[in-house]
Amino acid sequence: MIEGRKVDLMKFNQLGDSRGHLVVIEGSKDIPFEIARIFYIYGSENDVIRGKHANKDSEFVLINVSGKSKVKIDYGEGEEIIELNEPHMGVYIPKMIWKEMYDFSEDSVLLVLSNFKYNPDEYIRDYDEYLSLIKG
Ligand code: TYD
Repeated sequence: MIEGRKVDLMKFNQLGDSRGHLVVIEGSKDIPFEIARIFYIYGSENDVIRGKHANKDSEFVLINVSGKSKVKIDYGEGEEIIELNEPHMGVYIPKMIWKEMYDFSEDSVLLVLSNFKYNPDEYIRDYDEYLSLIKG
């Protein structure tokens, strides 16, 4: 088994006033890593399933800054489903966890922060390979 393979639901402070809300995320302070990469996903139809991979190096924080979506976390030995439906809520996903994002609302904008720049070689896209790696 690989240590520390547990996702963590995060609630960020909302610095709101009469003008609206503001959420700040500083690397290694509000999330467990320094941010090397940001990407965001929008315009996915409701029946689309994204992700379907695990990462050897990258950790992630997922935030639906608009709308909502669900994330299925598959530990290979149990599952967890998280609904992201508030702009100040996120989920931290450590490395070596299989994830699938789905059930996107029409207005969904899913922001993703990561500790590594993109490297396709660290993506595990074959579920059986994932299972054999985690069961080692
Ligand atoms: P993909 O990993 O399939 O997205 P998701 O996991 O959200 O379903 O990535 C889609 C495309 O974008 C693919 O061609 C790889 C590319 N990509 C990058 O170039 N850099 C990145 O950081 C990411 C996440 C994807």
